[in-house]
Amino acid sequence: MATWNLSRTKQHVFLCNGGSCTRAGAEEVTKAFRAAIKEAGLDDHVHTTKTLCNGRCEDSCVLIVYPEGTWYRKVTPQLAEEIVQKHIQNGQPLDASVSHQWGPDGFERSPEAPEGRYKSEKKEE
Ligand code: FES
Repeated sequence: MATWNLSRTKQHVFLCNGGSCTRAGAEEVTKAFRAAIKEAGLDDHVHTTKTLCNGRCEDSCVLIVYPEGTWYRKVTPQLAEEIVQKHIQNGQPLDASVSHQWGPDGFERSPEAPEGRYKSEKKEE
């Protein structure tokens, strides 16, 4: 049980630990990311949350940074450490690993990321 004081939080990072991401190594990604945040002395500034599926399983492992609205794909422990060093500490997103970026018109998808299908196209089962 935890009740953290969030008044110093500047970024909120969602670490997908849904089924597909877990099979792709989400636990190791989560540990590496949290260790890098601690090592950088950013525990009070970056709040992390392990989540269930974020609906982008083909991108496993998925890691999401807010308030920027940057969704990363194919995250490995090494990439997680790089995200801390470049994006979190220096404000430079790793564009080659971004699947979606939030902007004034909504999400912009990277051409490398699979398009996926609209939820409205989901067939009733
Ligand atoms: S399990 Fe991570 S996006 Fe689906």
